[in-house]
Amino acid sequence: MTATSSVHGSDLLRLVGVETRVPLVTGEERRYVNLDFAASAPALERVHDAVEELLGWYSSVHRGAGFKSRVATTAYEGARESIRRFVNARDDDAVIITRNTTDSINLLAGTLPAGTHVVCFAGEHHANLLPWKRIGVRYLPVPETPAEMLSILEETLRGLPRCEDPHLVAVTGASNVTGEIWPVPDIARIAHENGARLLVDAAQLAPHAPIDMAGDGIDFLALSGHKLYAPYGAGALIGERDWLSAGDPFLRGGGAVKLVTVDETLWADLPDRQEAGSPNVVGAVALGVACDTLAEAGMARVAEEERALLDHARRRLDAIDGFEAYRVWPADHPRVGLCTFNLHGVQYDLLAAALSAEHGIGIRHGCFCAHPLMMRLLRVDDAEAHRLVEETRAGHHERLPGAARMSLGLGSTREDVDALADALAQLAADGPRWTYMVNADTDEYEPDPDPRPLPRLRMRLVDHPHGHGESA
Ligand code: ALA
Repeated sequence: MTATSSVHGSDLLRLVGVETRVPLVTGEERRYVNLDFAASAPALERVHDAVEELLGWYSSVHRGAGFKSRVATTAYEGARESIRRFVNARDDDAVIITRNTTDSINLLAGTLPAGTHVVCFAGEHHANLLPWKRIGVRYLPVPETPAEMLSILEETLRGLPRCEDPHLVAVTGASNVTGEIWPVPDIARIAHENGARLLVDAAQLAPHAPIDMAGDGIDFLALSGHKLYAPYGAGALIGERDWLSAGDPFLRGGGAVKLVTVDETLWADLPDRQEAGSPNVVGAVALGVACDTLAEAGMARVAEEERALLDHARRRLDAIDGFEAYRVWPADHPRVGLCTFNLHGVQYDLLAAALSAEHGIGIRHGCFCAHPLMMRLLRVDDAEAHRLVEETRAGHHERLPGAARMSLGLGSTREDVDALADALAQLAADGPRWTYMVNADTDEYEPDPDPRPLPRLRMRLVDHPHGHGESA
């Protein structure tokens, strides 16, 4: 992705902060090697510049006659249109601005028609696993192959009551743990043939591949701005209007109504009905500009270049002694640019701490908000999983099993991947060169001592342990 003709290296897709230098525990500095795009991606410079421009026009949305309100409102509605085009939604689909994918899926879960049967696989991210629990869901086992997934799905849908009840199939577009891309058109066909609708959690797919809601038959789609180079707090739920407008809104408040008396509430039509409260115009505009920018670059090209870099990464990483990558589906199945792994002999959180402290490399580690899938990948059996639940419930600080994950994004280079491979090879051969201790609050390894100074920034910086929860 370094050649000037590469779309990843183009000025159009330049990211904020690519040259940021970070301190190492040894006292040196190094350009930050960001291999953690799957968690949160930096802003596109275009997005940053558009936000700065918007702030001069910032005002209320849908709530004011002032000229700035008019500009802010048109920018907000423009973002909705940009998102619609980016995912090739149908003209009559609702585009609802949310906070993120989790918010979007909870919104859909909160507005499903009564009696909906939800079907979902156990390997999903918690955002597409937990919201269904309060509705009633059939969790299917993590499928060993795409073919097995399709056949289990078909069999399950055929077995559901043939009544008027609605059915929803909820799947990921691409796994945040294995990167495996799910065969969405086939899933949509099976869902529709069996009277079900399809929700795709596109949090990990949208930044890496073209999306075609209309062409592929996706009824609902959820995505996050913070993974799509627009980290300003907005995401979206796009989809069919009838379910989203049938009952009371998910959130109730100002902006979601036509008229309120003490006794009665007349809810607004979509999208306002599902956007109670003052909208996040900055986040929405950022997301819209990111969508337009990525569309201009061409998502097919973005995907193709990323595939080539992922192949390079896998060649380098697989050659390291003790490197084990996790996957469920066959190695040649298409996947987005990430790889979850362990390095034999170096605990995953120690590995992440050493990569950061000694090499200036940022990755994510842990269970990636997909605990059932991680238990399967780490070969934790049901009895051991149950024991971990009981230990955790009893308040004991058990060190949980986990892994490390590198993830690619716009502007990722061979140099970045090589830096990771070299650092892992060194760690595999010699172990960490610094000393580390487990922080009693977080149960995670940290450099000890950690002489790295925090940067001088305009905002207040307070060290805050993560605690024992896993962030989303
Ligand atoms: N769920 C996001 C991830 O996989 C945050 O890192």
